[in-house]
Amino acid sequence: MLKELLYKENYSVSEIETLLSLKDEEDIKQLQDRANEMLNQSIGDSVYYRGIVEFSNICSLDCYYCGIRKSNGEVGRYALSKDDIISSAKWCADQGYGSVVLQSGERSDENFVNFVEEVIREIKKETISEKLPRGVGITLSVGEHSKEVYSRFFKAGAHRYLLRIETTNEELYRELHPESQELNERKECLSFLRQSGFQVGTGVMIGIPGQTIEMLARDVLFFKEQDIDMIGMGPYLVHNQTPMAEKSQMDKDPLLQLSLNMIAVCRIVLKDINIAATTALQAVVPDGRERGLSYGANVTMPNITPTEVRSSYKLYEGKPCMDEGRQECKSCLLGRVHSIGRDVAFDQWGDSKHFALRTSRTENF
Ligand code: 5AD
Ligand code: FES
Repeated sequence: MLKELLYKENYSVSEIETLLSLKDEEDIKQLQDRANEMLNQSIGDSVYYRGIVEFSNICSLDCYYCGIRKSNGEVGRYALSKDDIISSAKWCADQGYGSVVLQSGERSDENFVNFVEEVIREIKKETISEKLPRGVGITLSVGEHSKEVYSRFFKAGAHRYLLRIETTNEELYRELHPESQELNERKECLSFLRQSGFQVGTGVMIGIPGQTIEMLARDVLFFKEQDIDMIGMGPYLVHNQTPMAEKSQMDKDPLLQLSLNMIAVCRIVLKDINIAATTALQAVVPDGRERGLSYGANVTMPNITPTEVRSSYKLYEGKPCMDEGRQECKSCLLGRVHSIGRDVAFDQWGDSKHFALRTSRTENF
């Protein structure tokens, strides 16, 4: 019965709910095995690194769950210099990471857009080598912008973009954000990104107060409908200096299992996309990221933000790697990947195979 469900071509909301709700050890093992089988069949089991530089925590938004929200006056604000960001990206290239993620709080002023554009151009120029003839791959994660701005970022040389939808449920989205932030606008941004040529990544938080399994099942179908190329999602965790701190958080064990089930289900339903084992998993249990990989994820993001500012980019309580340096994260994470019998594919962009197939699909029409 479960076996049949794990081998379907198309899934209904209630079928996905059933898979997400699995709790019995034997059932979970079957889910995990199927996710790994799909991973091996569709893209192979290499793990791809994206060195993440959290280059600024200055944010104009006020999401109720996020530690660096505009209204959190307790957090010291920082913005790395162009040189610091570029040298971090160069360090990544030297380590063989192949790709970087540039992430920051959201700002839409022209200075910021120009800054990001220049940083992208410089990184591309400075990281060209024999191993990386087109420089490091750049994923941007700097929030909502106009189509024109996205096109500028793409032309400058970034080619992947992460913009989490957080939840596709209207009412829940409303409860997480001030009125000025609209779910529809975020959805529109995802289509702008696609139109601009990006490999598009999105994702949700798992275990948000008020979130149901049905909502998560609908999120998975949204990823499918939108033909998404990459997923980065993780457990919702309280940050004490946010309005949501007064609401409760799921217990760690069920929260972890639900997050892992989400990864496995996304792998089974969406097949050849990239899925990240995110840092937040490691905030729930120390081996959270390895567990994410062992449920079908194929990407992980070593933190390369300079140690001096790491603690100011605390989105939730218990974020790991706050006092470590990039060198420590490098050896730590490699050990973690090896501990589950997987290997890192160095010196490659590690693009989404789904993107390659969907674009060749479109070209054929
Ligand atoms: N718990 C978990 N994830 C969070 N994020 C922000 N705040 C939290 C939190 N309290 C995630 C959001 C955002 C990404 C950059 O970090 O999903 O899109
Ligand atoms: Fe940063 Fe382990 S990954 S210390």
